[in-house]
Amino acid sequence: MKTLLIAGGAGYIGSHMNRVASDAGYRTVVYDNLVYGHRHAVQWGEFVLGDLEDARQLESVFKHYRPDAVMHFAAYAYVGESVTDPGKYYRNNVAATLTLLQAMRDAGCGVFIFSSTCATYGVPTEVPIPENHPQDPINPYGRSKLMVERILADYDAAYGLRNVCLRYFNAAGADPEARIGEEHDPETHLIPLVLDAALGRRKDVAIFGTDYDTPDGTCIRDYIHVDDLASAHLLALEHLLDGGRSRAFNLGNGQGHSVKEVIDCARRVTGRTIAVRHEGRRPGDPPMLVGSSRRIVDELGWKPRLADLETIVGTAWKWHQKKGGASS
Ligand SMILES: NC(=O)c1ccc[n+]([C@@H]2O[C@H](COP(=O)([O-])OP(=O)(O)OC[C@H]3O[C@@H](n4cnc5c(N)ncnc54)[C@H](O)[C@@H]3O)[C@@H](O)[C@H]2O)c1
Repeated sequence: MKTLLIAGGAGYIGSHMNRVASDAGYRTVVYDNLVYGHRHAVQWGEFVLGDLEDARQLESVFKHYRPDAVMHFAAYAYVGESVTDPGKYYRNNVAATLTLLQAMRDAGCGVFIFSSTCATYGVPTEVPIPENHPQDPINPYGRSKLMVERILADYDAAYGLRNVCLRYFNAAGADPEARIGEEHDPETHLIPLVLDAALGRRKDVAIFGTDYDTPDGTCIRDYIHVDDLASAHLLALEHLLDGGRSRAFNLGNGQGHSVKEVIDCARRVTGRTIAVRHEGRRPGDPPMLVGSSRRIVDELGWKPRLADLETIVGTAWKWHQKKGGASS
């Protein structure tokens, strides 16, 4: 049985990855400081409370569990905060990653899967965005992720650390059995905000900009179900464990949905009233962010199974109701 270390596995995407990897027969070890994660989200495998900056603890974790591979989800991901406090982002997302990579080198672990982001592309000049689109991020969060991508390329060339960088578009949805789901605090993602409004936990949902050059004037984003993200990670892991070379892949559905479409979909799925509030555009919000995932489909045979927006919102709603304790 192969052992997988999941850094940040108590967070939203990492906790789903932990479930999917355990179901696929991996022994999983979650390493998380619970700054943003939740202990109750780690329902599979083993849990170690620890910070990526703690080199000594990492050393003992690698000695004790001897992982065959590492998946790295642990990062800060609030774009606005990264602009006002970039030091926090470069320390945690870049410097702490170097500590993790050093622990891997010392332990002789040479397989790494990294949570990168479409934010590394910046404002797209071509949509759907392919992997060879120029990477020119427009905020420190995106730059911190791009720096790690570049570091990984150098570590592969110098130390043979084989790695896959997965550039996610908008992760969404929840475990179809609603055992775990999206639980960010503060929450900034559209679908949970909309569902909070449906549950009456917030008064309304802000729409930032209704005058974009898109069919209904609101921004378009590419939503990908968190379980489809996890299945792509498994394929990337198998690719590397089989001796495959380092690669970067986009992970999106290749299909965009506008803010208004998401809200209308949530109204249908929940059967509830969702009030909206119109606000001005937010600086740095591109009108349309949609990725092409052709490369991972062609090279690794990835097949998203929960791509439909109603399914994405439906699984998130099931989880939200459970979390919110509301009657439907
Ligand atoms: N959610 C999305 O739509 C999205 C999109 C693109 C990229 N990503 C990336 O995917 C990854 C996971 O995102 P998420 O939405 O699950 O975030 P999350 O905040 O829910 O999970 C991150 C986890 O990492 C942990 N963590 C952070 N710093 C740590 C440290 N120094 N030591 C130990 N643990 C630490 C947190 O406690 C948390 O449990 C992040 O790297 C994020 O940048 C997410």
